[in-house]
Amino acid sequence: MLDKLPLPIVLAPMASGATTPPLVAAVCEAGGLGSLGCAMHEPEAMDRDVAEIRRLTSRPFAVNLFVLPELETPDPAAVAAVWEILRPIRAKLGLDAGAPPPTKFGQSFAAQFERLVALAPPIASFTFGIITRAQMEALHGAGCFVIGTATSVAEALAWQELGADAVCAQGSEAGGHRGTFLHPYGEAMNGTMALVPQVVDALRIPVLAAGGIMDGRGIVAALALGATAAQLGTVFLRATECGITRTWKDALGRAKDGDTRVSRIYTGRPARGLDTGLRRLLEPYADTLPTYPVQLGLTAEIRAAAAKAGNAEYISAWAGQAVALSREESAAAIMARLVEGMRAAHDRLVMPR
Ligand SMILES: Cc1cc2nc3c(=O)[nH]c(=O)nc-3n(C[C@H](O)[C@H](O)[C@H](O)COP(=O)(O)O)c2cc1C
Repeated sequence: MLDKLPLPIVLAPMASGATTPPLVAAVCEAGGLGSLGCAMHEPEAMDRDVAEIRRLTSRPFAVNLFVLPELETPDPAAVAAVWEILRPIRAKLGLDAGAPPPTKFGQSFAAQFERLVALAPPIASFTFGIITRAQMEALHGAGCFVIGTATSVAEALAWQELGADAVCAQGSEAGGHRGTFLHPYGEAMNGTMALVPQVVDALRIPVLAAGGIMDGRGIVAALALGATAAQLGTVFLRATECGITRTWKDALGRAKDGDTRVSRIYTGRPARGLDTGLRRLLEPYADTLPTYPVQLGLTAEIRAAAAKAGNAEYISAWAGQAVALSREESAAAIMARLVEGMRAAHDRLVMPR
């Protein structure tokens, strides 16, 4: 499947509304693999977006979910404690500071998974955890090619042992959430350059390289490390077709190297994004905040109101370490630039005799 792609380029699935059907289809039409991030989709929204992708392209595409346990009722004391800290920011942003905290958090993974199997996309990909053997069998029975995310050799081997068809090796440069599921996240922070060759050597299935790859040079480097293709997220965040807010896109446009941090304060799970005032305010409480998706729900209104007001200090702006290499242009132009860059990088390679 992956080795039959015209180009070894995968649009990373990006929840948060980033990977719209037009963006996914544009990457597929340009010869890459587009991925739809469905982690925050209700099953009906998955139906709608997959139908639109199928209308826009006949090429293969991927649908991605976060593997999560069913949510237990969160500890009310922990929720109340965060809510108290957030009240002044809510007031500052014109939100009702006296409002009670939300009571519904996240989507049901079981319901999303059931809809995924029914939709039977050509490729299904996962992060945050690992699916069960029965779920793997259901996906294979539906004809899906399955990709699991790994941030260590042990996680990659776990996916291979389960029967995955490929693994996405996510280096620590990557924007968005860490996919780590077998270790404390700090123990699986290998960079892409270090992680990919070790995963390639350990596996017999294809490996995608993700994290900090922003142009043709990076893609050629990933292929040289043994990856079958490169998975790119941040470079597509400023694409015309990308669904993130104007506030987030503009903040990415101002970003420099060194401007990203990994923190769990926004969602309850470590994720890399641009540093913000919200992170600096909540970081002292980072170890005691509720887990994903409770913390995600508690900060949701603040992040949305700030984005609407053009205030980048209180948004979550996921971005990888090489964000400064991004440009605002159409997905087709980005794809053309990536291919051009691959050719140039290849031509520059001089092998020792
Ligand atoms: C805004 C954003 C959202 C993301 N959402 C997802 C997601 O829903 N599922 C997933 O598997 N990975 C997600 N990722 C991680 C990407 O799959 C990938 O590992 C990362 O983008 C690669 O690093 P780069 O951003 O430096 O290209 C996300 C990344 C970003 C930047």
